[in-house]
Amino acid sequence: MNNNIEGKIIVITGASSGLGEAAARLLSEQGATVVLGARRIDRLNTLAAELTGKGGKVLALATDVVNRNEVKRLVDAAVQTYGRVDVIINNAGLMPQSLLESLRVDEWDRMIDVNIKGVLYGIAAALPHMVRQKSGHIINVSSVAGHKIRAGATVYAATKFAVRALSEGLREEVKPHNIRTTIISPGAVATELPASVGHPETAARIKKFYEDVAIPADSFARVAAFAISQPDDVDINEILYRPTRQEF
Ligand SMILES: NC(=O)c1ccc[n+]([C@@H]2O[C@H](COP(=O)([O-])OP(=O)(O)OC[C@H]3O[C@@H](n4cnc5c(N)ncnc54)[C@H](OP(=O)(O)O)[C@@H]3O)[C@@H](O)[C@H]2O)c1
Repeated sequence: MNNNIEGKIIVITGASSGLGEAAARLLSEQGATVVLGARRIDRLNTLAAELTGKGGKVLALATDVVNRNEVKRLVDAAVQTYGRVDVIINNAGLMPQSLLESLRVDEWDRMIDVNIKGVLYGIAAALPHMVRQKSGHIINVSSVAGHKIRAGATVYAATKFAVRALSEGLREEVKPHNIRTTIISPGAVATELPASVGHPETAARIKKFYEDVAIPADSFARVAAFAISQPDDVDINEILYRPTRQEF
């Protein structure tokens, strides 16, 4: 039986670690062709070799999502190589938390560039192809922080609220084109994300929080696979999930 994943061409940004890497693994195992983007091409190549060794079809391209042309190049490469793009998972992101009074303004800029503009560039790259195809699926990664705000996570939360706002507007706008849209909002998942926190005390607090509650990244992969695998007339618009032991 077709799982509605097999044969799909799926672009994933931020596929060199964490959630993106786990999604690439599971979706490839389930028969998708995965097109992987991130800056660390060595990590992508290692993952591509592993998946290809298991019979998967993989394309890996060094991609910085703050560069609109590089994101376009990634999605265009999927279409040029495989004829279409069925799904894009706009996953690349970072979380350098700190109190606003710390004035780590460069980190605010960086989060806005990667977490918001990177997602927009993914949408801009995929949308023309999907409109032409009259099919497609855009999955944007938000967070529990896209639903709840906590001191120290203000700018991160703002970027993740923005991802949900963009995704909801997108959902309404792409109805005429038969395109599905999904927001995935995870809680604490064990990845390299806490390493993006530069502020020392905040970094220590978040490291401890993740050690106490985080669950493995394949949780995200299963959620993404669930949304993608639905019949074409079913559009899973939003999934919020947490570790069972996470209160926040
Ligand atoms: N882990 C969690 O608890 C959690 C919870 C909620 C939401 N999220 C969201 O999940 C997404 C993935 O994070 P993760 O937890 O998997 O963290 P991660 O292990 O640090 O992975 C982040 C990924 O994003 C990529 N990335 C960062 N900046 C990039 C850029 N400028 N261009 C291209 N790729 C870039 C990284 O690749 P390179 O460094 O190689 O470029 C890496 O592959 C993020 O949007 C994050 O906000 C995570």
